[in-house]
Amino acid sequence: MSNVRTLKVAPSLLSADPLMLSEEVDEIMRGGADLLHLDIMDGHFVPNLTFGPHVARALASKGLPLDVHLMVDQVEWAIMAFSGYAEYITVHAEATPHLHRMLRLIRESGCKSGVALNPSTPPDFLPYVLAEVDLILIMTVNPGWGAQKFIPEMTRKIRYVRDLVDSAGVGVEIEVDGGIEKGTAGLVREAGATILVSGNYVFGSRDKAAAIKSLRESTNSGR
Ligand code: DX5
Ligand code: ZN
Repeated sequence: MSNVRTLKVAPSLLSADPLMLSEEVDEIMRGGADLLHLDIMDGHFVPNLTFGPHVARALASKGLPLDVHLMVDQVEWAIMAFSGYAEYITVHAEATPHLHRMLRLIRESGCKSGVALNPSTPPDFLPYVLAEVDLILIMTVNPGWGAQKFIPEMTRKIRYVRDLVDSAGVGVEIEVDGGIEKGTAGLVREAGATILVSGNYVFGSRDKAAAIKSLRESTNSGR
């Protein structure tokens, strides 16, 4: 079961060397990354600050599709600011009272749409937006920082979302983000995840290609 779904690996640039962004992206491209996960933090929705649209534009020119994860309060502004450079734009359900409209706006702007859920956010609203999403992002840590520990209770949420997506018969990606390394990759893949975001594990490894490969292999083992 767990082996039949196509797996994508999306290294998170948050853990890359900020003085070497271009080289770091070259290395993960050579290592077979499918997407470049770009965490956008505004100092409000989460305390931290990261990248702006001008950095996204430069990164997009590298040729690896951008998976933009918005952790911002100004959702509508950010969708418009990043849509020219992104393959996926994901917004947090907690960040807007107008989630359905924001998801439509993402698609209208030419990108694939994603909704992210913080660890404490129940997934029961998802049936009401399922037709508007291409991706559901289950946070497996609290958003804001890299290199945190995977929250094991989230595997139950991943399973719930996998059942929901399968029963609806829709081709929605299930992405996980936070504390994903060789050990946790197998767990989340078995629970139904199809896109693995990984920051500290990939960019903290001397051999990033080997780290990406190990994520694919642990997931394929379906442990
Ligand atoms: C956390 C970010 C993550 C982060 C994951 O708010 O959304 O994308 O970079 O980092 P690791 O894989 O180090 O937990
Ligand atoms: Zn992220």
